[in-house]
Amino acid sequence: MYSSVGAFGISLIAILHILLIIDLSLACLPYIPREAWDAKPPKSVEKFAGRIPYVIIHHSYQPAACLTGPECCEAMLSMQKFHQQDRGWNDIGYSFAIGGDGRVYEGRGFNVVGAHAPRYNDKSVGICMIGDWTVDMPPENMISAAQSLIEYGVRRSIIASNYTLIGHRQVRPTECPGEKLFKEIQNWPHYSPMLDVVDPNGIRT
Ligand SMILES: *[C@@H]1O[C@H](CO)[C@@H](O)[C@H](O)[C@H]1NC(C)=O
Repeated sequence: MYSSVGAFGISLIAILHILLIIDLSLACLPYIPREAWDAKPPKSVEKFAGRIPYVIIHHSYQPAACLTGPECCEAMLSMQKFHQQDRGWNDIGYSFAIGGDGRVYEGRGFNVVGAHAPRYNDKSVGICMIGDWTVDMPPENMISAAQSLIEYGVRRSIIASNYTLIGHRQVRPTECPGEKLFKEIQNWPHYSPMLDVVDPNGIRT
């Protein structure tokens, strides 16, 4: 009798503990600001106003998936260098990137015009899942980090509560965000099968 009550008490505590952990993971965004990955300053910053109507999911293709904090910082630096120096852009193209360490890395941030999806750069959050997700699926910690970021944006009224979530290939001819990841995001909240692909050669990027 005593031992079964004891076991019941212990399992109740275990359940409460699990609920607490779930609750904390929703409330706490694992966030790495630019300063923490030694970002170079942007050459220029252009902002846009209002609640953001689109969330656009990308993959980096290269660099490959990073697994630790130092590797993900290195990936951020290499993307910023490529975008600023080789492409001649103001800054890393994406609003945010998600590392294989399960953390959200600040790129241009919210409400800053990006360079990730022509015609949508001034009305979207561009989230890059670092790695090549053509064949492989991003691990669960990356998916939950991306979703925590979106939930955070909605909770703070930065992202419109009726936002539309799409993959990069839905607005320009590209395989991005990778076939496997593209299938996955079709199950995410607010995904829309909309298609608005035009020839990028005819427009300003
Ligand atoms: C979201 O709400 C805004 C403001 O009410 C509206 O203008 C817009 O068309 C809505 N967007 C979608 C995708 O429903």
